[in-house]
Formats: sequence, structure tokens, C-alpha cells
Amino acid sequence: MAMTVTPLTPDFCARITGINITLPLNDAEFAGFRAAFDRWSVLILPGQPLDDASQIAFSENFGPLESTRSVNPAAGTPFARQSNLDIKTGAVIPADDRRMAYQKANMLWHSDSTFKAVPSLCSVLSARQVPAVGGATKFASTRAAYAELDEAVCLRLDTAVVEHDFSYSRGLAGFEFTADETAQFPPVRHRLVRVNANNGRKSVLIGAHAKSIVGWKAEESRAMLDDLLVCAARHSYSHDWRQGDVVIWDNQAAVHRATPYDSVRHRRLMQRTTISSRNEAYAQ
Ligand code: OGA
Ligand code: MN
Repeated sequence: MAMTVTPLTPDFCARITGINITLPLNDAEFAGFRAAFDRWSVLILPGQPLDDASQIAFSENFGPLESTRSVNPAAGTPFARQSNLDIKTGAVIPADDRRMAYQKANMLWHSDSTFKAVPSLCSVLSARQVPAVGGATKFASTRAAYAELDEAVCLRLDTAVVEHDFSYSRGLAGFEFTADETAQFPPVRHRLVRVNANNGRKSVLIGAHAKSIVGWKAEESRAMLDDLLVCAARHSYSHDWRQGDVVIWDNQAAVHRATPYDSVRHRRLMQRTTISSRNEAYAQ
């Protein structure tokens, strides 16, 4: 069985078939997969019914997994759970519950874990239960956004450092952290421009958690971060989920966002594993 890569836009997002990621991959199989990931930033794999154990095993091919910290219902495990179902009872969570308000922030363009001291290489999201309508996830290329910049702007951005702040981004979506939650997630700084160590392609690390460019005037910084998102959104792809789909995205080269669904009438359960970038060359 040979892995087939089908591009979904000219330079971003590809569908992968002819590989079974629910079973262990050998080194050659994973090397081909990793190369496709570096090339396309977002890989869509239909019909790969991962359970928690096989999702962890597959995800570990990329590197060490992050452990989820407080606020997400799956805190303390390697999973981040995006769901309207109570983690213990499976009952639908009322729309006005704090847990649903928290998830609304996923509807802003973002890159996972940029608010952590070590950002994430990639996320693996598996669709365990999907609503009949709604709940698509959109992806946009921050590599394409960088590629559109004038040389003079590139020069300024290549040395720029951005402050990322989790309580700031949740606030944007109308979710207020308690003082305890805020204290757990102090702001962190990352270089704005990322260089993929395997192919040299540059991208920008932006999205909802990106609060400001350090040392820039507030309006100038906000305008630049917003412009970069607008550019990225011109190179986007929307995925309509089917149960058993798995999507892997490069958190350094893409942003993503959730879209609405009727959380009172439909059940949605998505399990995410998040791979740390601490073993990547650019993190050293
Ligand atoms: C995530 C995420 C979007 C969605 O899992 O990181 O942003 O549509 N998910 O559930
Ligand atoms: Mn996310």
C-alpha cells in the first residue's frame, strides 16, 4: 500500500490515503509522512478510527506530547477535549455552561499552545463524534502569509519577538480567567518568524494568543498582527468532519479555527493530542 498525497489547495493542505495510522508505522513510513507534513502543513486523513491508545502511539512519532493543563476538561492527560459532552457522564453540556464559553475561543484564528514557554510543533485531532451539520474546522497558511510580504517588511519581522498571553486571548472571546488561572499562564515570548528546519520555509507564529510585537507601538503592532492573519486567511481550507477523520496541522505554519454547530441538538467529541516542539531544531 503506497501513501498518496492529494493537494487540496495549490500550496496548502493535502489529503493522505494509502496509509493506516491506527497501526504502528515503521521509520520509512513515518519519514514519508513527516515529509508530507513539512510540505503541506495540514494533512487530512479520512477513515482512521483512532482510539486514545492508538492516537497517543501515532502522535509520539512526531515527538514528546504536551500534557494538558487546567481549564480544558481533559487537564492532566495528554488530550485536549473539544466537546459538548460531559467528560464523566457523556451528557450534553448546557449552552450557558462555563465549559462551552471556554470552547468559543476556538472560533478565533489561533495556533495551539503558543501561550506556552515551548510552543507546539503540531496537533493531531481525531473526530470521535461529529454533528450532522456545522462544526467544520478552518485552516489558514501563515507560510503563505509570510511569502506575500515585501522585502522591507520581512527584514523588520525577521527579528521581531511576540508576546503571547492565554488570558488575553480568552478575554477576546469573552471568557474571563480567574486570578488563579491567570497566574498559571504568565505571558511568554516567541520569535515571530519560524523557519522549518527540514525545508527552510518561513512562516509566522500568530493567532489569538499573540498579544503584541515587543517594542512596537501598540497600534502598529496590532495592525501588523491583524494584517498577517488577513493574509493567511486568503490561503485557507475548511474541513467538514466525518467520524473517524484525523487531521494533523503544523502549529508553526498554520492557524485554525472552529466554526459553530448546534451544541444543544448535536453531539460532538474531538480528541486532540499536541506535540511539543522541544525536539525540533528551531527550538534549540
Ligand atoms: C483544537 C481546535 C477546533 C475544532 O482542537 O485545537 O481548535 O473545530 N479545534 O474543534
Ligand atoms: Mn486549536
